[in-house]
Amino acid sequence: MGNCWSVRIKAESPFHSASASGVNSRNNGKDGNGLSGSSSRVSSSSVPLTCRSEDEILQCSKLRCFAFSDLKTATRNFRPDSVLGEGGFGSVFKGWIDEHALTASKPGTGMVIAVKRLNHDGFQGHREWLAEVNYLGQLYHPNLVRLIGYCFEDQHRLLVYEFMSRGSLENHLFRRGSYFQPLPWNLRMKVALGAAKGLAYLHSAEAKVIYRDFKTSNVLLDSNYNAKLSDFGLAKDGPTGDKTHVSTRVIGTYGYAAPEYLATGHLTAKSDVYSFGVVLLEMLSGRRAIDKNRPPGEHNLVEWARPYLPHKRKIFRVLDTRLEGQYSLGVAQKAAALALHCLSTEARFRPTMDEVVSTLEQLQDNKDTAKKSESEPKEHSRSLGNSGHELSQRSLEEAGARKVAYPRP
Ligand SMILES: Nc1ncnc2c1ncn2[C@@H]1O[C@H](COP(=O)(O)OP(=O)(O)OP(=O)(O)O)[C@@H](O)[C@H]1O
Ligand SMILES: [Mg+2]
Repeated sequence: MGNCWSVRIKAESPFHSASASGVNSRNNGKDGNGLSGSSSRVSSSSVPLTCRSEDEILQCSKLRCFAFSDLKTATRNFRPDSVLGEGGFGSVFKGWIDEHALTASKPGTGMVIAVKRLNHDGFQGHREWLAEVNYLGQLYHPNLVRLIGYCFEDQHRLLVYEFMSRGSLENHLFRRGSYFQPLPWNLRMKVALGAAKGLAYLHSAEAKVIYRDFKTSNVLLDSNYNAKLSDFGLAKDGPTGDKTHVSTRVIGTYGYAAPEYLATGHLTAKSDVYSFGVVLLEMLSGRRAIDKNRPPGEHNLVEWARPYLPHKRKIFRVLDTRLEGQYSLGVAQKAAALALHCLSTEARFRPTMDEVVSTLEQLQDNKDTAKKSESEPKEHSRSLGNSGHELSQRSLEEAGARKVAYPRP
C-alpha cells in the first residue's frame, strides 16, 4: 500500500495531445536533454512507441487478453486473503495460471501471478490502466516488472503481472515486525542500482519515457532482491524535437515530486532523477519522504536532511542507525553525495540516470565496504539487531535474503 502520507497530488486532465484513445503521441526525435542509452539495456521494444489507438494498444500480440472469469478462478474469486496490497488504482491479488496455456490453474500450481483490479469506474482509472498496457506492453527490461496480460471486459479493468515475491521496497524499509527485518546496506545498494537501471532504460533514446511516479511502493523486489519498476499509469512520453520539457498538470506523490515540476508542471527526465534522490535518501535514512509523526522540522525528509548530507560527520544524523557498521564512511559519504546531487534544486545540476547508475556501480564494487565488514564482525552483529551472530559481508547478505521474508497469502 502506498505511504499513508504520500497522497496523490491531483488528477491530471486528459492528455492534451491525446488521440481518441486518450494516449498521447510521440515521435522519434531527440529530446535535447542529453540522456544517452543505458548500458544496462538488454532488450528493447521491437515496436516503436508511436501514436496508437486503444485497439492497437490492446491488440499488442505479446500481451495475453484474459477473460474475467479466468482471473476470478486464478485468484480464488478475489479472496480477501489473496490480497498482496492495495493502492490508488485498486487491490492486488495473488493468483495462479498455467505457465504455457496462461489459463487459470489450481491454486498452488503453475505460475504465480499478481492481479491488479481497478476498483473504481471513470475515465481516469481507465486511462491509467491503458497507459500501463501501452508502456509495459512494449518496454522490456530486467528492471521493469513484466506485464503478462490484461482483462478488458464490460466494466472490468485488470492487469496481470509477474509475481514479485518480496513485495515492495516500501514494506522492507518502513514496515516493522518480525517479517520485516531492516534491509542490510548491501541489499539497499543493490536495490538502488537495479531501480536506477530501470529509470536509465526508460530515459534512454530507445524508450524516451518519463516515469513520473518513482517511489518506494513502486519498486518491487523478486526473490533475489532484484528491483523492478511497476506502475506506468502516470508515465509520459518524453519531450520530442527541440522541446526541453513536457507540459502537464501536476500529478504524482507528495514528497517525491521535483520542485520545478510542482511549480510549473514542466516535466523532464530530471524530475525522475529528483524522485530517485528522495528514494535514495529514504534508503539511507530509513525515514519516509513525508512523515508527520516525526518532531516538527523533521516532517519533510529532504528539507531536514539536506544540511547534514555534505558534512563528513553530520551525515551520521541522517543514516539509518540500524545499518551501523555495515558500510564504510567513504562509501556512505559517496552515497549521500549522490542523493544530494540528485536533489539539486536546479534540474540542470542533477546527474542523468546513466551517471547515477555508474556511481552506484562503483559503490557496489567498492571493496572498502566488504573489508570493513569482515574486519568488524561485532559491529555487524550489532547492526543486525539482537541476533548476536558474527557475520561476514556475504553471510550478511544471505541473512538478509533469509530473514527478510515477505508475508504472503
Ligand atoms: N507484481 C506484484 N507482485 C507482488 N506484489 C505486488 C505486485 N504489484 C503490486 N504488489 C503489491 O501491491 C501493493 C499495491 O500496489 P499498487 O501499485 O496498486 O499501489 P501502490 O504503489 O502501493 O500505491 P499507489 O497507488 O499510490 O501507486 C504494492 O505495494 C505491493 O506490495
Ligand atoms: Mg504502485
